[in-house]
Amino acid sequence: MTSAADTVLVVTPVPKDLRDALSADYPLRDHVRGVDGVWPPAPGIRVALTTSMAGADAALMDALPDLALIACQGVGLDKIDLEAAKARGITVAHTPDVLTQDTADFAIALIYATSRNIVRADRFMRAGRWASERMVPSRRVSGKSCGIVGLGRIGETVAKQAAGIGLTVRYSGPRPKPGAPYPFIADIAELARQSDYLVLTCPGGPATQHLVDASVLGALGPDGILINISRGSVVDEAALIAALKDGRIAGAGLDVFAVEPQFDQALLAFDNVVLQPHYASITFETRKAIIGMLQAAIAGTFGNGISKD
Ligand code: DGY
Repeated sequence: MTSAADTVLVVTPVPKDLRDALSADYPLRDHVRGVDGVWPPAPGIRVALTTSMAGADAALMDALPDLALIACQGVGLDKIDLEAAKARGITVAHTPDVLTQDTADFAIALIYATSRNIVRADRFMRAGRWASERMVPSRRVSGKSCGIVGLGRIGETVAKQAAGIGLTVRYSGPRPKPGAPYPFIADIAELARQSDYLVLTCPGGPATQHLVDASVLGALGPDGILINISRGSVVDEAALIAALKDGRIAGAGLDVFAVEPQFDQALLAFDNVVLQPHYASITFETRKAIIGMLQAAIAGTFGNGISKD
């Protein structure tokens, strides 16, 4: 017998691997907003499963009066109303740490992909152009400077790796990080001015909304490359598209967008932009770890796990 109390309520589409793993232990029930945008009530539900991209708002929590746990796939909490959860005594479990290394690796991969034209050269080969044309030169990576916006878990790992590939590292953030061995530059435009790569690793949300605007992009300059592995909301995307159109920056490596997955198609026009489908943390290894963390959090709420029969 299943009941609401032993069911995991799935409030946004989640990847199949996670769904399969959880459905081996718990009944899953999909829950969607009504056409009026209102969450239907689901009394008795104790566990809701969401993702960093979908989050959980206060209206959802109101519709689930017995909710004890929001299990969130991903590290970002910017779309979860943490105040509302706290006020209702709801635990929020997310999946930090296990995705730090892969996400940082991806920033470095985007630095190389954009600078060394890796994706562009692949397109050139597939189009059969090599026999009759030559690729334009690419940009050297080593010896350049890397400005990191947000020296949290992921930013710190990017910093270490960037230093390891011969980049000079500086960083910005709300305040200097005690013990960080890199110069702190409070003003993002100034950091951009001193950087060949501006790498965004800060959280999303109102505090960082459009932190990278036309003036920051102007400061990054025609030889500068923007790498965004944080949230699309951190960048004024219209300003970015305008800067790319006018050659005011050299390129961009983007894993995140203002709107996902229906990102602005104007970005497709630029050969000097590498586009990725919010893919930085998606490796087999990290998927396994994320699923394990969510299983543990859910088991912690349900006791030792609840069988379907
Ligand atoms: C995260 O974990 O927040 C990543 O951006 C994937 O959503």
